[in-house]
Amino acid sequence: QDAAGLVIALDGTSGSGKSSTSRGVAARLGLAYLDTGAQFRAVTWWLLQQGVDVHDTTRVAALADTPRLVSGTDPGAPTITVDGEDVSGPIRSEAVNAAVSPVSAVPEVRARLLALQRAAISEALATGRGIVVEGRDIGSVVWPAAPVKVYLHADASARAARRATEEGGSDPSATEQSLLARDAIDSTRATAPLVRADGAVEIDTTPFTLDEVVGQVVGLAEAVEART
Ligand code: DC
Repeated sequence: QDAAGLVIALDGTSGSGKSSTSRGVAARLGLAYLDTGAQFRAVTWWLLQQGVDVHDTTRVAALADTPRLVSGTDPGAPTITVDGEDVSGPIRSEAVNAAVSPVSAVPEVRARLLALQRAAISEALATGRGIVVEGRDIGSVVWPAAPVKVYLHADASARAARRATEEGGSDPSATEQSLLARDAIDSTRATAPLVRADGAVEIDTTPFTLDEVVGQVVGLAEAVEART
């Protein structure tokens, strides 16, 4: 199968399995991978480093273009650098988890990252390699023309249990509260809220293993390829 030129938009709630699924699909189909959540997290990490109050939207907006971000697109080893420093680890900290949703709600931050995201997708297409892009607004705003759009969700308790395991045994009920708080902000913000995009196939991942969900998305992509 020829996955060149394919864009798979994979959106969904926090902890629904977007990252693992996106990486698995990209690896299976030989596609590039872009984690847009990591970009919002990297901007947030940098703002915290600068001592910026993330609720000061005027200041966040004024600084939105300042940090230099470079996203790696290898699904086997996703990385992100800020001003040349690899921040792949620090962007997963509790401090960033707590601050990323308010930063993501600032239109200037979104506009800046939208430009980077569209450039990365155009570059993947230009090099003849398709791409899996994960986030909250990929199918609705970033690349509405994506031929494969998926919306992943799962029960909050299942998401919290998975995330707590990933984070090495953190408290599942605190994790669930933190996921739900992020979902609430992400779904209700004015600019590019989390929604199921028109034409997106919804998958509730609660009863499935990762391999099963990857298989379902690969199946959707193969069905699209077969039609074109
Ligand atoms: O997918 P994640 O948990 O790493 O995303 C972190 C935050 O970034 C999430 O709370 C909302 C925001 N985000 C966004 O607003 N738009 C995207 N396309 C991706 C992430």
